[in-house]
Amino acid sequence: MRTLSTVPAVRSAVRDWRARGESIGLVPTMGNLHRGHMRLVDEARQRVRRLAVSIFVNPMQFGPQDDLASYPRTLAQDSALLAERKVDILFAPTVEEMYPDGMEQSSRVEVPGLSDILCGLHRPGHFVGVATVVTKLFNIVQPDLAWFGEKDYQQLLVIRKLAGDLSMPVDVIGVPTVREADGLALSSRNSYLTPDERRTAPRLWASLRQAALRLQAGNKAFGAMEEEGRRTLVAGGLRPDYFVIRNAESLAPAGREDASVVVMAAAWLGKARLIDSSRVDLEALR
Ligand code: PAF
Repeated sequence: MRTLSTVPAVRSAVRDWRARGESIGLVPTMGNLHRGHMRLVDEARQRVRRLAVSIFVNPMQFGPQDDLASYPRTLAQDSALLAERKVDILFAPTVEEMYPDGMEQSSRVEVPGLSDILCGLHRPGHFVGVATVVTKLFNIVQPDLAWFGEKDYQQLLVIRKLAGDLSMPVDVIGVPTVREADGLALSSRNSYLTPDERRTAPRLWASLRQAALRLQAGNKAFGAMEEEGRRTLVAGGLRPDYFVIRNAESLAPAGREDASVVVMAAAWLGKARLIDSSRVDLEALR
């Protein structure tokens, strides 16, 4: 594995791969890699001849109150894990390399609608930061395929939409969430939890599962289920930003005729903001 930190170095490698007609995959990450990321890497490794993984803690997607300074950075450890998985290139640029004119002066990518709701409402500017950096990474690596975790379900839809809207020749692939034995979705932010909070955290997934099971049983009282989900989280010691049931493609409020819905929640536990989701295909049940 080669570790590259500049755009021209990646472009040169990509040029050689393309000249040989090799397929290219990209797994964008912010590092602090866990089994969830490794699942993306493993799936990607099977599908393409050349695989690049990026590690960049993108300041543009963090708000002023967010955890940019404390976000875990573990490059040496991450790099060893990726080398074991036979990744071809680790792209680990600096902030200056990605935003040479400074972040404020840099062009931005906005995905209307999807970006302004749910996590976008609670973290203004977050999805502009994500969409901008992912567009840059797609332009630098020019992958045929790119992999993202379904845990960040709204992010996955934002990226899929931007790739379509901007006619990017890349397939955006979602990969199911990897969980701890008690259901907690793996996330770098779980490291912010105290031992007590860690014991409480699986309640987020439990509340989503409860709603998903009701949906599967034919319950369509979406509003009541959302209200109950929020109440369950509060009673369990979490501070929900939202607990919603949405159309799985558009994220519009779920309708009785929807074929596929997703139960999504974001909640604070101590210093950690946890997000998780459960997708339910209703069409199959009709
Ligand atoms: O999900 C993440 O780790 C980040 O939001 C991403 C997609 C790598 C963009 O910085």
